[in-house]
Amino acid sequence: MKQVITLKVNGDSYSLAVEPSRSLNEVLREDLNLTGTKLGCGDGDCGACTVLVNGRSVSSCLTLAVSVDGKDITTVEGLASGEDLHPIQEAFIEHGAIQCGFCSAGMEMSALNLLNQNPEPTDEEIRQAISGNLCRCTGYYKIVDAIGAAAKKMNTKKTKKN
Ligand code: FES
Ligand code: FES
Repeated sequence: MKQVITLKVNGDSYSLAVEPSRSLNEVLREDLNLTGTKLGCGDGDCGACTVLVNGRSVSSCLTLAVSVDGKDITTVEGLASGEDLHPIQEAFIEHGAIQCGFCSAGMEMSALNLLNQNPEPTDEEIRQAISGNLCRCTGYYKIVDAIGAAAKKMNTKKTKKN
């Protein structure tokens, strides 16, 4: 039997009737048409489905939608502000950290999770933070560089605001 849940996704509230067996990934992609979040392995191994729930990264393929009733979800669609890309997105483009792009949304959400908690990560900490995200194209070096550059951009923005 369907259960009614409320999700706040990228700042917008939704009330949805969902089967208890459906994953957050299915609800985001199929019900809310937020297809930036990918489905890769469906098994917790690739990280392509990473989103933030109340500010912490989770694999949306392993998360039942009913288990996040009432929570704040951030997907890759929530990163940009209108026409302005998020510093993480800018850095991924500038550093050539996107090739086919299948891993990129998950990588960027893992990067956001890291930088929210650790604004000045070392390369080793960046590697650790994306250790659950697989990329078949880039060889990872450019992604690590991009996340380091994003950290600098975000810190510069904060300094300017203060
Ligand atoms: Fe969720 Fe691979 S699709 S971890
Ligand atoms: Fe293709 Fe990462 S850019 S999987």
